[in-house]
Amino acid sequence: MGFDPRVDLGRGLVLPNPIGTASGTFGYGFEAEEMGSLIGLGAVYTKGTTLHPRQGNSPPRISETRAGMLNSIGLQNPGVDVVATAYARRWLDWRVPVVVNVAGADQDEYVRVCERLSGAAGVAGLELNISCPNISHGLDFGTDPGRAAQLVAAVRRVTELPLLVKLTPNVTDITEVGRAVQDAGADAVSAVNTYVGMKISLPERRPVLRGLGLAGLSGPAIKPLALATVGRLRRSLLIPIVGIGGIASSRDALEFMVAGADAIQIGTANFYRPGIAVEVARECLEFAAGEGLAGWGDLRQLEPVDSSRS
Ligand code: FUM
Repeated sequence: MGFDPRVDLGRGLVLPNPIGTASGTFGYGFEAEEMGSLIGLGAVYTKGTTLHPRQGNSPPRISETRAGMLNSIGLQNPGVDVVATAYARRWLDWRVPVVVNVAGADQDEYVRVCERLSGAAGVAGLELNISCPNISHGLDFGTDPGRAAQLVAAVRRVTELPLLVKLTPNVTDITEVGRAVQDAGADAVSAVNTYVGMKISLPERRPVLRGLGLAGLSGPAIKPLALATVGRLRRSLLIPIVGIGGIASSRDALEFMVAGADAIQIGTANFYRPGIAVEVARECLEFAAGEGLAGWGDLRQLEPVDSSRS
């Protein structure tokens, strides 16, 4: 049997290949469309979308670190009405599935945004962002398994769209939140969003990034942490996992699949190399052909790591 590159994230969301672009690093895909960088992508996960348009935090909003990047964007976006109409209409002609990342200040906002998007042809799925460290209530749901479950159940009631939940690593036990959202009806989880970080301006005696002063750390610095987290989630969840965290090459992507990811999002690397996700997708397919894989599942590590061994 030939190699099947597709990935099934549940409820009819089948990606042509596992490699997608992470929310907040690829806008709504239109710049990539102009550059011809959508062809060969597995999925586009959009910028976090809220009920009303948001300007986001005051600049500066991004700063490089030694091995990564801090951001405090604050969910700048045009609001769900624009996304569900003008944007979704354009996505209809694309071969690549578009998953809209959804954010909110409270449960009612998430529900209303998801309800609005679920009537929009062109939207392939929803990714609930319960892990944004850059707005005042951005982590409220992601750090509380009970509230996360309630939110997912409430959203599930208003949409039949495939529902992913983007988890925060800024918790004691991410598997508790993962299990809670799985049991409440999530089709898949995305893991992980950024780690809370800070950069200080010594002359000014204050954080470089304004907003809340805190920011989200991404890039190569977090890759080993994210890999370990994906491995832990894989051992506790039954639903698919979309791995994220410092992925910048096909080798990184394949390593996440060995650890248990079913699909991949490339984030920070898009900033310095637009088009990298397409390259990574192509190289992963070449690897699969060279190794004679039947499916991506063949990459899963053979022996589950025994977490009881210290
Ligand atoms: O716009 C933002 O600050 C989003 C951040 C996040 O979801 O990680």
